Amino acid sequence: MRALREIDLVIRGTTDIYLSLKTIIDFTLSELQIDAADFLLLEPHTNTLKYIAGHGFHSTNIERSTLKIGEDITRHTVLQQDVHHIRDLAKVGDTFSRAPFIKDESFVEYYAIPLIIKGNVNGLFEVFQRKPLKFESGWLDFLHILANQAAIAIDNYHLFKNLNQLNHELLQAYDTTIEGWSKALDMRDKETEGHSRRVTNMTLELARLAGINEEKMGHIKRGALLHDIGKMGIPDQILLKPGNLTEEEWVIMRKHPVFAFQLLSPIEYLNPAMDIPYCHHEKWDGSGYPRGLKGEEIPLSARLFAIVDVWDALSSDRPYRDRWSKKKVIEHIKSLSGTHFDPIALKLFLNLIDKQ
Ligand code: C2E
Ligand code: SIN
Ligand code: SIN
Ligand code: FE
Ligand code: FE
Repeated sequence: MRALREIDLVIRGTTDIYLSLKTIIDFTLSELQIDAADFLLLEPHTNTLKYIAGHGFHSTNIERSTLKIGEDITRHTVLQQDVHHIRDLAKVGDTFSRAPFIKDESFVEYYAIPLIIKGNVNGLFEVFQRKPLKFESGWLDFLHILANQAAIAIDNYHLFKNLNQLNHELLQAYDTTIEGWSKALDMRDKETEGHSRRVTNMTLELARLAGINEEKMGHIKRGALLHDIGKMGIPDQILLKPGNLTEEEWVIMRKHPVFAFQLLSPIEYLNPAMDIPYCHHEKWDGSGYPRGLKGEEIPLSARLFAIVDVWDALSSDRPYRDRWSKKKVIEHIKSLSGTHFDPIALKLFLNLIDKQ
């Protein structure tokens, strides 16, 4: 009972399949006075059983062993889901498919117990003895219970691995979707080719210089790619207007960060990426929109992004003006230190531009 409780604790507490199976083997060896034991894992794609963990062997040969389903002992164990017992290994000799792997081990007795879960075999538990087993009642029962524990541990491991894989694929699909949206937004806005990609890469570089935590970079990346997603709510006649906006048109244009907030709020995955779409038109002196945030009230990522966005906007043609020269853009941006832009963030940005 004590052994089983301890095994149970280990299996529940870890996703490390080697640790779980190693624990079971250690208990097998100590509680049942067994000389050697190992686990083989079923690989359904190749229809083989492969060694995964073991203890008590003199040589490491067994670790390289595989068993093809259909070979001798697998017929009883995997196909008929029954125990395979060999009382005297000397009698079966080389007809035993495990013989080459246990040559100098001087084993005499052998048990193979299938690991069965939900009616399917997912592995094999092998037990080897150098002296004949004194059969005590309960001994084989205990071996079966250990095999059940191992089957559960392996099943949990498969579930966990599949879940991780699915999770990974899902996140990958999200990010691919976001990149697609971002490209669509650039096209609608008649932005120069790759505007979103460019400001995103530059913002990530600047964020690293600013010492922002690496784990926030994914959010910053998604936020930058989607910074003007709120412009989806701005009509063409305003967004694409070749000339200056009227006061009424500006009222609508200034709503684009709020539209972004409304659009992204219900999407839990994108909530941590909200700062840039919502706050990229706030200004250091509090004269920006939509909320008039001031100084460090503005999230750092949005303060950094704002500089990059204006830099890239002025360096590109717009429906309402031609691009500016690099010199003119730098002069203009410098003139906004402390009013539009965070002065420290601006210094970092100018260093970055200098290096390029
Ligand atoms: P955007 O074109 O992506 O520009 C982003 C920001 O870069 C602007 O935010 C502004 O801070 C800076 N910027 C861009 N172009 C100029 C410029 O010619 N001169 C100066 N001094 N700064 C510039 P802002 O001003 O809040 O504008 C937000 C968005 O409103 C712009 O995004 C653009 O889509 C639209 N917009 C701004 N001005 C006009 C305009 O005169 N006509 C039209 N049709 N749209 C405008
Ligand atoms: C934000 O979380 O979007 C801005 C931070 C703030 O409210 O100060
Ligand atoms: C962010 O706005 O995402 C970064 C906040 C900070 O690190 O201060
Ligand atoms: Fe914007
Ligand atoms: Fe932009």
